[in-house]
Amino acid sequence: MRFSLLTSLVAIATLAVSVMGASVPVAREEAELAKRDTTKYVFAHFIVGIVASYTQDDWTNDMKLAQDIGIDGFALNIGKDSYNDAQLGFAYAAAEALNFKVFLSFDFSYWTSGDATAIAGYITTYGPKAAQFTYNNEVFVSSFVGDGFDWASVASQSQAIYACPNWQASSYAGASGVSCGFSWDAWPSANNDPIDANMTTAADESYISALGSNTYMMPVAPWFNTHYGPASYNKNWIFYSDYLWQPRWDQVLSLAPEFVEIITWNDFGESHYIGPLHPDDTDVYAGGATGAVQWVTGMTHDAWRDVAAPYIAAFKAGASSPTVTTEELVYYYRPSPKDASCSDSVAQPTGYDYDDDSVFVIAMTSSPATVVITSGSNAAVSIAVPAGITTVSAPMGTGSQVFTLTRSGSTVLTGTGGLDVSSTCTVYNFNAYVGSVTAS
Ligand SMILES: *[C@@H]1O[C@H](CO)[C@@H](O)[C@H](O)[C@H]1NC(C)=O
Repeated sequence: MRFSLLTSLVAIATLAVSVMGASVPVAREEAELAKRDTTKYVFAHFIVGIVASYTQDDWTNDMKLAQDIGIDGFALNIGKDSYNDAQLGFAYAAAEALNFKVFLSFDFSYWTSGDATAIAGYITTYGPKAAQFTYNNEVFVSSFVGDGFDWASVASQSQAIYACPNWQASSYAGASGVSCGFSWDAWPSANNDPIDANMTTAADESYISALGSNTYMMPVAPWFNTHYGPASYNKNWIFYSDYLWQPRWDQVLSLAPEFVEIITWNDFGESHYIGPLHPDDTDVYAGGATGAVQWVTGMTHDAWRDVAAPYIAAFKAGASSPTVTTEELVYYYRPSPKDASCSDSVAQPTGYDYDDDSVFVIAMTSSPATVVITSGSNAAVSIAVPAGITTVSAPMGTGSQVFTLTRSGSTVLTGTGGLDVSSTCTVYNFNAYVGSVTAS
């Protein structure tokens, strides 16, 4: 989650894939098979490592927001923090009360191939809890990297698991104890370097092909920007995300995988959160004063969830396109033009020049209409959109940002962006400011 270099462990398991399912009565088994064929699940990746001081109420608030848009559960990313058990206790209790689901996602930036017994201990503790997500009667478990880890050994030391680890596509061949694969390739990149191109499904297709009859958990992300200087994590790049969030959901509908994982709910450090901002910045935004607080404070992403909601409903219904019931304009833009000179000791993030100096609108419309964008002192730009969900843009101008939806010459929706674009800046901030224009 916090590192760019993926460590591929040597795949140590060479046995054929074994079926982990315990024997169950035939009728039950058929019911489970039917469920496997038709039920689609959407999860969001939640970094437990940055919520040391969360209360159960904090968990409840986040889970309710996720549930509101149709997310089924959180993938609970854990390292080896001393507060894991306290926070997992809150998370499982909050989820149980809401009938929300959770599962553990072991972050192999911290865990190693020698940790099968410790990981089995977590499965034994949390697997039986009511809020645990199970699939085919098995305890669902995932990871961040950890290629070649012996999940069969974890199962043999705990209980039947449905392992969906995040490995390189090539690492699944011959793996023992793995039922599913999860990709982290949610942004346009080549060998994890930024590229000037839109996201495609090429990586997903290579996973699906490598996984054969095993299931696939497809990653969906809204954005990527990280800007840690040499004094902290020293990671400073963007992945081109101008046309990512809405087109990526179209890719979900066309591939129709078994599982989707939104990456992420709360990884503020890499700017791919769709969850709410936290009031206590210094505690939850990794990196302290020189860290994510610089590019996250005030940069709400909440309205992006409004776009996910109809897509999640469509994905679960097996539909090929989303249905818009409430018209809305969800806008997003960076706080400054990319060539603005900021008083920042850390240079612009690698790949910054790929960004378009544009402001973007995801139009959610129930019939054809026109989006009008007035960016700063630029002349208004009018773009016709069909019924449905469409991403459009206009060149960025400094000053206020006004977004309007018209139909047959009448204004349907209009509103001003919550942040003015400014060429004066103290931080090279390539995060997005996200808001919406609604009828109310
Ligand atoms: C990404 O797609 C959008 C919409 O089709 C297009 O306007 C834009 O130029 C594309 N970006 C790149 C880098 O190809």
